[in-house]
Amino acid sequence: MLGFKLSSTLLLAATCLLMTPVDSSKSVITCDNARDVQRLRCDSGVIMVEAALYGRQNTMFCSAGRDPDQLADTECAQDGTMDIIKKRCDGKMTCEFDTRIVRTSDPCVGIDKYLQTNYTCVPAFHMATCEHSYATLSCSEGRVIFVYGADFGRRDRTTCSHMRTAAQIADVECSDPTALVAERCNGKSSCMIKASDSVFGDPCPGITKYLELAYVCEYTVKAPEESDHMME
Ligand SMILES: *[C@@H]1O[C@H](CO)[C@@H](O)[C@H](O)[C@H]1NC(C)=O
Repeated sequence: MLGFKLSSTLLLAATCLLMTPVDSSKSVITCDNARDVQRLRCDSGVIMVEAALYGRQNTMFCSAGRDPDQLADTECAQDGTMDIIKKRCDGKMTCEFDTRIVRTSDPCVGIDKYLQTNYTCVPAFHMATCEHSYATLSCSEGRVIFVYGADFGRRDRTTCSHMRTAAQIADVECSDPTALVAERCNGKSSCMIKASDSVFGDPCPGITKYLELAYVCEYTVKAPEESDHMME
């Protein structure tokens, strides 16, 4: 009981209040094929995935040339789809992935499925820190860090590529999402973390990597009864 009270003395503001989208919600639908790529993009701000469905919710999407039998189940949804895409895309300005990443099992055998991802673009600090450098996150007084997403690896040939050989920047599919930045930095007013194998492990040996991340600064909100608990 006491533990519960103490942990409620400082509450972070509900994240949703601070994520005022910079534009309206976007929806991307990718039909099921052997090897398809889905691409999410924000012209301003970073991606925040709101919903994702792998399965089928209606007979309309991805129906061209299909047999009615293949569209018959409109209550088909794979569990965990949203988590997979959030992990992959939250906090990025663009996010491209092979839709095979969500096809971990078949939620409705014989039904033709699609992947629908709904997302918004929310304002955030976005940064890429080259390997062996420190990422420094900070917020002004009274506010604390909330990390939307972080990746260690390489997703393009241009970031942190100065004086590198073609081989060192060749692997652009080396990208390991990491929760470590959030674990270390959330709730703090400033935070430093090294973009290094020693911190994150090495997702692609021989490749020059970088840490890409996005965060916001949230106001801290004190629970009204805080002063009472301070006296206990
Ligand atoms: C995405 O948004 C559309 C339009 O609001 C909605 O009809 C659809 O159900 C949403 N998809 C998911 C997976 O929630």
